[in-house]
Amino acid sequence: MSNKTTNMDNTRRRFLVAAGTVVGGAGIAAALIPFVSSMSPSARAYSAGASVEVDVSKLEPGQQITVEWRSKPVWILRRTEQVVDDLQSDKLRQNLRDPDSLVTSQQPDYVQNAFRSRKEEFLVTIGICTHLGCIPTFRPDRAPEDLGPDWLGGYFCPCHGSRFDLAGRVFKNVPAPTNLVIPPYYFLSDNKILIGEDGGIDSTS
Ligand code: FES
Repeated sequence: MSNKTTNMDNTRRRFLVAAGTVVGGAGIAAALIPFVSSMSPSARAYSAGASVEVDVSKLEPGQQITVEWRSKPVWILRRTEQVVDDLQSDKLRQNLRDPDSLVTSQQPDYVQNAFRSRKEEFLVTIGICTHLGCIPTFRPDRAPEDLGPDWLGGYFCPCHGSRFDLAGRVFKNVPAPTNLVIPPYYFLSDNKILIGEDGGIDSTS
């Protein structure tokens, strides 16, 4: 079996494991949020490769859900006001490899901003590490013992230690070379997101 095939198999395996276990929550003690495509009646997932419509009306600030799009996990995080403030701090930016998302292949043009999102409140990103394809862990807790006093919440990849902030921006001095990938998406309404399409002329919000 080729290395490429092996890596793809590993990625798929890790995704399936993650999908069946923890996808996140607000803080360490938060309840587990189910995998939307299989468990939430508010989510309407179409066949693989097609767009996926997600209702985020029940998502509380600080919570994250995972949906499947093109056989990949896509995270939708509703950020708290604190997180929105943190993402703009100079102290955080100094520790990021590409704080302004200058690697344009990692996101559509319309999310090349401080939040890497259409609305600052919501992050929509593909949950696959840009190093070798593991699934990073959602760690929204601030200054946990294992990640250090400067940790403001983010994603930690257990395979080789890469770190990303809550905009999916990679930190310096970790193996992952680039920020997490943002898929095409737009808001159908205040609480409905369509993942997989850029939208028309009304899709800038
Ligand atoms: S796969 Fe994430 S750090 Fe290597």
